[in-house]
Amino acid sequence: MDRIVIRGGKPLHGRIPISGAKNAALTLLPCALLTDEPLTLRNLPRLADVDSFGHLLNQLGVSTTIEGARPDEFGRVMTLRAANLTSTVAPYDIVRKMRASVLVLGPLVARAGEATVSLPGGCAIGMRPVDLHLKALEALGAELEIASGYVKARAPSGGLVGGTIRFPFVSVGATENALMAAVLAKGTTVIENAAREPEITDLAKCLIAMGAKIEGLRTDTLTIQGVGRLHGATYAVMADRIEAGSYACAAAITGGSLELVGARRDTMPSILSSLEEAGLGIEDGAEGIKVAALGGLKPLSLSTAPYPAFPTDMQAQFMAMLTLAEGTSLLTETIFENRYMHVPELNRMGADIEVRGRSAVVRGVDKLLGAPVMATDLRASMSLVLAGLAAEGETEVHRVYHLDRGYERLEEKLQAVGADIERVGG
Ligand code: UD1
Repeated sequence: MDRIVIRGGKPLHGRIPISGAKNAALTLLPCALLTDEPLTLRNLPRLADVDSFGHLLNQLGVSTTIEGARPDEFGRVMTLRAANLTSTVAPYDIVRKMRASVLVLGPLVARAGEATVSLPGGCAIGMRPVDLHLKALEALGAELEIASGYVKARAPSGGLVGGTIRFPFVSVGATENALMAAVLAKGTTVIENAAREPEITDLAKCLIAMGAKIEGLRTDTLTIQGVGRLHGATYAVMADRIEAGSYACAAAITGGSLELVGARRDTMPSILSSLEEAGLGIEDGAEGIKVAALGGLKPLSLSTAPYPAFPTDMQAQFMAMLTLAEGTSLLTETIFENRYMHVPELNRMGADIEVRGRSAVVRGVDKLLGAPVMATDLRASMSLVLAGLAAEGETEVHRVYHLDRGYERLEEKLQAVGADIERVGG
């Protein structure tokens, strides 16, 4: 199995291109199910999860063709066409590997009148049930049946009907499924306590480009006027704010300076303000956001929460950075119950982190030392790469397939800004 070998201690300087957002891509791809016309997505990141989602859509009868991007663009261009759906089943084997597969549920019920989707079960970072996704569909008139680990959802004979969906707490995926189902439901749907993550706005903008009627973008109340049909469109995936934030942490932890080319300040307010609080200089560059280490890192007190607050998907990377801060930081995870699996690995590299229930106390140390470490999930893996970039000596990160799910051309991008990092097979 591949591993990533890093010889740390080199400050990173230069430009890093930011790819299309994984989490936006994974909710834009299933939009293809909502129309029989072609949907072309530009700036799609080259990631294992995007490929897996493409294969799932192929199994449902969606044709996919991939072209290279124009020379001035990153990523890929994919045209998807669901002229005729041949299946409405998302099988266990696929959903188990990629939880986001559950996002075919809403669009399939809206377009085909039915869907059978495997329940995802637990995952490395917690239970992650889908009850809110199901309640949202029920509010639009769908009938649900759960048996043998699958949920079968059926629209009433005349199709889904608009309704009010009030989420008891914020869920990104449930908001996405609700939105994709509501655009073709008869009448008006109101989604209250909707997630406000920038990826939701990206989804709404793509649906509007396909002919949907949605109001309340960027707010916690989305109002959707159902339409009879959607048409094809071309849409460019937003820049990945989590990838940009991760590389900002790389500049911070190595005492370097990076321009995050294509990163959008308006999608990452709390990430940038937390970096500033940690002592980094942030300014707008010609092509993106410039992040520079100005001196020692200051400790932080951070709590994860839905957007616009600090994202859970940045917690592990900030923790790696704060292991070298001058003082004690406190991180609290409020979204997922088991998202500290990087802690023992970071401690093996010399960090001083103690988990107390939902919080982690990070006492800054003078240096980290390279070690063989095991990646456990996507963002945890990145925290180990960051620690390796700063550590004395050699760090080997095992199980790199986690990184391939969410970081496009990681070694290439880091090598180009001065990191000593390589992928080793076998
Ligand atoms: C998405 C992101 C993930 C990110 C997370 C939170 C994608 C592909 N993934 O995941 O990277 O970490 O948002 O920003 O976009 N919950 C329920 N019932 C439900 C749905 C969710 O109890 O039906 C709980 C979850 O277990 C979790 C919380 O709600 O504790 C928030 O999860 P949610 O926002 O739904 O995360 P995802 O959409 O799975």
